[in-house]
Amino acid sequence: SPLEQQLKDLASFQVIAHRGASGHVPESSMAALELAHEWGADYLELDIQMTADGELVAFHDDTLERTSNGEGHINDHTLAELKDLDAEAWFNDTYPDQADEAFMGTEILTLEEVFSRFGQNARYYLETKSPQLNPGVEAALVKRLEAFDMIDTGRVLVQSFEQESLLKIHELNDDIPLIQLVWYSPSQEDSERLVEWRGTTPGAPDITDEHLQAVADYAVGLGSNYRYEGEQVIDETFIRQAQDNGLAVHIYTVNDTDHMQQLIDWGVNGLFTDYPDRLIELIE
Ligand code: G3P
Ligand code: CA
Repeated sequence: SPLEQQLKDLASFQVIAHRGASGHVPESSMAALELAHEWGADYLELDIQMTADGELVAFHDDTLERTSNGEGHINDHTLAELKDLDAEAWFNDTYPDQADEAFMGTEILTLEEVFSRFGQNARYYLETKSPQLNPGVEAALVKRLEAFDMIDTGRVLVQSFEQESLLKIHELNDDIPLIQLVWYSPSQEDSERLVEWRGTTPGAPDITDEHLQAVADYAVGLGSNYRYEGEQVIDETFIRQAQDNGLAVHIYTVNDTDHMQQLIDWGVNGLFTDYPDRLIELIE
């Protein structure tokens, strides 16, 4: 089945366009998704948040200021209010070298707009972002995935830092393949590395087979950072250990080709990148 094929594909290398081709154009915009899709990225990555009136939108931050001219928490606003915002000027101001009039009119996108545009021609890597701020986001997401027939057709992965959010997704539909995100950081107290399973076992000691098996009970993969304040925090052993426990390993967010190459040499199953073009060129 297409879903089985998707799971099989996870064993090979996946190019994950982080918020679309967000190194080139405004993140999470239609232009960013179009570009990543045109270049042949395997997955379009988006962070999903819920509006005050229950719509799902693609937006990374909990607050509006960085990537729009709005103010306050995104989930305090209705979709109509969010649609009135300018989600482009910040990009041209922050990256004048990449500024382009073509981005004018950039809007915050709904998940339905994304699905309507790319449908079954793309794969989607969707994060339940800040689920504690977006109660009900899991049910709203599963409803849309089912309505657009994205699950049985092997079109979607759902990712979260919050284990609880992933488990809620599975309670609603346990065919949806899940990715547990982790934020791996060096310990403050000693030289041991820490894994922070946000919201579940904060400050758990260095990752063990037991941790990984517990994740493999519900997830098909692990999404991890690779650097913490410029310092490398994962290595080939970590990647192998996760894979030996049945988990695909996807690393975020890797933008320079030296690090891409190193992680590929270490055998990762995929990379999240703002520059899918660079990564595709490297693997070709
Ligand atoms: O979803 C993987 C990676 O995107 C997690 O970090 O903050 O970019 O959503 P963030
Ligand atoms: Ca994300």
